[in-house]
Amino acid sequence: MTDDHFRINELTNELNEHNYRYYVLAQPVISDYEFDIKLRELQELELKHPDWARADSPTKRVGGEINKDFKTVVHKYPMLSLGNTYSEGELVDFDGRIRRLISSDFDYVCELKYDGLAIGLVYENGFLVRAVTRGDGVRGDDVTANVKTIKSIPLHLRGTDWPDSFEIRGEIVMTRSGFETFNVGRIEAGEQPFANPRNAAAGSIKLQNSAEVSKRPLDCFLYFILGENLPFNSHYENLQKAKSWGFKIPDFMVKASNMEEVFDFINYWDIQRRDLDFDIDGVVIKVNDYKLQQELGFTAKNPRWAISYKFKAERVETMLESISYQVGRTGALTPVANLTPVLLAGTTVKRASVHNADIMAELDLRLGDRVFVEKGGEIIPKIVGVNLDKRSVDSQPIRFIEKCPECGTELIRKEGEANHYCPNEYHCPPQIKGRLEHFIGRKMMDINAGEATVAALFDMGFVKDVADFYYITKEQVMQLDGFKEKSATNLVESIHKSKSRPFDKLLFSLGIRYVGETVARKLAQHFRMMDKLMVATESELVEVEDIGESIAKSVVAFFQDASNVQMIDRLKAAGLKMEMEAEGEIIDKLFGKSFVVSGKFTIEREKLKELIILNGGVNVSAISSKTDFVLAGDNMGPAKLAKAEKLGIKIISEEEFFQMIG
Ligand code: IVH
Repeated sequence: MTDDHFRINELTNELNEHNYRYYVLAQPVISDYEFDIKLRELQELELKHPDWARADSPTKRVGGEINKDFKTVVHKYPMLSLGNTYSEGELVDFDGRIRRLISSDFDYVCELKYDGLAIGLVYENGFLVRAVTRGDGVRGDDVTANVKTIKSIPLHLRGTDWPDSFEIRGEIVMTRSGFETFNVGRIEAGEQPFANPRNAAAGSIKLQNSAEVSKRPLDCFLYFILGENLPFNSHYENLQKAKSWGFKIPDFMVKASNMEEVFDFINYWDIQRRDLDFDIDGVVIKVNDYKLQQELGFTAKNPRWAISYKFKAERVETMLESISYQVGRTGALTPVANLTPVLLAGTTVKRASVHNADIMAELDLRLGDRVFVEKGGEIIPKIVGVNLDKRSVDSQPIRFIEKCPECGTELIRKEGEANHYCPNEYHCPPQIKGRLEHFIGRKMMDINAGEATVAALFDMGFVKDVADFYYITKEQVMQLDGFKEKSATNLVESIHKSKSRPFDKLLFSLGIRYVGETVARKLAQHFRMMDKLMVATESELVEVEDIGESIAKSVVAFFQDASNVQMIDRLKAAGLKMEMEAEGEIIDKLFGKSFVVSGKFTIEREKLKELIILNGGVNVSAISSKTDFVLAGDNMGPAKLAKAEKLGIKIISEEEFFQMIG
């Protein structure tokens, strides 16, 4: 074995161990910085010797594989769900049914019911070979590439005493703390925040780009193991064993020998769940012994040996005093119910979200109604119903407002959308303020100012659009509350400094609807300069990789608005970067040529795409008659190949590509 080969093995082992300590045991022994240095060393070595990169290499966790459609896979063992109940009486019945069939003593295992998305992980010879979603229980989606980015899931098992082939099931969740930070980031980027961690987890696992998934704060708790040669004949013992193979088997699991102990567990977690960093919606009770499980068998849908008990969401009754309407940064209106303050799950609730007009109509809300308010998985409490017995006879249904409460513009509601929008995108105050705040963000123009300062600049009339930032004077800033000579100078300097932010960041900062960080980068790399992007048509835009119809429409609409064109002119005049800088020496060998890159290569696909751009070419996602080349790697789909051949598009190998760019 050469030195490099040896080192690749050594680093792989070492980094896997650190991942395990950090993500499974929560007991890291080295700093993130040290970890990154070693990971980078491994990445470089693997780039030099791709054949030596191991299947369980931690570098595989960063993702990069793109999945347009997930493959459907039939589960080896159907993925059943559990019968569930909210009632303690039904739990007692469940226990009674079992005791009538089983005369001996036995144990239950009590577990938490994680509120995420179910996943089945298949291991063969110690390696994770497949991760499949529940789907309809019989077949699910193969989401292996995405699941491999979750660091607490072992790519290769520890120890040696695992069965050659088995499946382990669990729940992928997003932590509450991770969810909060992640949603803040989404709002900053002008994207719709997720309603709760479960939706965020489910949305993440279905993303097409696994590199994106790797950035999401996901975790996976395992609770069920299936296979022919498991070490023990009972659930609890097998899971404890699986823990030693590196799986995250939560410690919240306990054995109980009677219903009293089961209820102790339930009552404990009904309170304690508030302090967990992930959502649970109940507990699961399972008969521990496999032989007894087998004797009890299944009903059509559920095992008879297990049941889930769901916690009741805490619910209170209070009065609906009024409805106000909030206009968000994107112009979407959210009706908010103002309630007579009431205590719910430890906090005083004064307001509840009603989400949209449909929900308002469905609940048939009327002013003065006594309403039921619940705190479920969502952060903001919601109204779940009206106490009709207490409704006054002359109450009238609430009509959704027709004009924007902020700017008076007639609201619109697009076909198929639940939200009403204020269409006055560029002149409605909260939308402008939101756009100004977005513009200065750290990932955007990185101007050192807070929300309050931006609001004050706007309210004083100094900044009405983002270009105005570059024309404000120190004297003006000093008129704001709390600003003195020094702080005003700092702000003006920070604004000045932002002029050197690269073009793609500027594009992202403009707050064009649907143009987040990645889309902005793709657009900037493709069109390279503002002037070209400004005149791009919808059909030219959708040719860019990952740019769909709604993004294209939104970009065209943005540049059709005269006030936006004027604003860009003033940004230009202020000296902001209106084109991509040359990244090293650009040789336009591929000028004007479009490429579809597909399959596996000796280097990362993203690297190849970068090379195409650096040489003046463009990447497109789908093969069309306008595609010039298909750069085909190993395992490229036969359908794609056939399409390219049919359209007479030149198919080139990686080697030929490198010859082209010399
Ligand atoms: S056991 C045959 N254990 O709840 C039994 N499920 O309705 C298989 N879940 O689809 C499931 N926590 O997504 C089990 N500790 C736990 C669980 C759990 C959450 C989910 C899972 C399953 C659904 C059952």
